[in-house]
Amino acid sequence: MKIALFAGDGIGPEIMAQARRVLDALGLPGLELMEGDVGGAAYRKHGHPLPEETLATARAADAILFGAVGDPDCDNLERHLRPEQAILGLRSALGLFANLRPATMFPGLEDMSALRAEVASQIDILIVRELNGDVYFGEKAMRTLEDGRRQGYDFMSYAEDEVRRIAHVAFRAAQGRKGKLCSVDKANVLETSQLWRDVVIETAAEYPDVELSHMYVDNAAMQLVRAPGQFDVIVTGNLFGDILSDQASMCVGSIGLLASAALGERQTEYGTFGMYEPIHGSAPDIAGQGKANPMAMILSLAMLLRHSLGREEDAARIEAAVAGALEDGVLGGDLGGTAGTQEIGDAVLARL
Ligand code: IPM
Ligand code: MG
Repeated sequence: MKIALFAGDGIGPEIMAQARRVLDALGLPGLELMEGDVGGAAYRKHGHPLPEETLATARAADAILFGAVGDPDCDNLERHLRPEQAILGLRSALGLFANLRPATMFPGLEDMSALRAEVASQIDILIVRELNGDVYFGEKAMRTLEDGRRQGYDFMSYAEDEVRRIAHVAFRAAQGRKGKLCSVDKANVLETSQLWRDVVIETAAEYPDVELSHMYVDNAAMQLVRAPGQFDVIVTGNLFGDILSDQASMCVGSIGLLASAALGERQTEYGTFGMYEPIHGSAPDIAGQGKANPMAMILSLAMLLRHSLGREEDAARIEAAVAGALEDGVLGGDLGGTAGTQEIGDAVLARL
């Protein structure tokens, strides 16, 4: 079993080190770990945020564990050289189109939510975000209009097969949960969304056991804070999914707790090839201080074991260890506590 570890920028290396301790503790037989440079760190070393050799390592792996990328010092580079291109490039080059972003309330953390505890306690949502299309990957540029004004544009589109394949992932996920799927779009304004909605409705014919609903994204943003308990699985496009998943994280209590999986179609000997990362960023303001909460990173490792290595039991053990640490009050600064990166890693390992 080959796992590629791409730590990246900012707090990436610190939180990756804790996930690695957890992985080591499992003592999996036949495990091969490979490292690679991504993001601003890779740009400094190789002149590119996603060097060829990193991509080759990614392709050779059964799964990728990804820390975070983003570096304020790189904000003025041309867009194709910015750290974020590492993650976008990997998602696209590896065909990782299905992003699973679970947001579930951890018992005992209800008071940390930005919502009232009785509202927050209801949260158990899986956001299925499309990851290879939409305005993220359309033609984009800055141009000067005839009258001399500068204009920026980004082309938004979805082809029907792109919508269909993510819809299937979402319907199947709903079948394995409470059987409810809410498709989020902006079909009252956008043609891209109208096609999205049409294709989701067509796909629904194959899943009579799933209760399908549709919601405009503005309403969905409101409903996520008004009554998040109404949602089971949400399926949405790349841009809306990016925004709603950050919002969902605050409903749960902290972005430092949310893991994600990016999956494609390729099957390996052990499961589905995928890339796993916390949904938070590189947090340059606290990088190198040992303050970052590694829980989202550790929970991403759990998702990797589940989806890519077929090790459900190990995944569940890690998730229980994290939940146990939280229940016992091991809280990072993001949750109003004082526990540092290493201490949180220790606490999770002890419970494991
Ligand atoms: C995320 C991030 C990325 C995205 C950035 C870093 C490109 O915000 O994974 O949610 O927009 O997809
Ligand atoms: Mg995001």
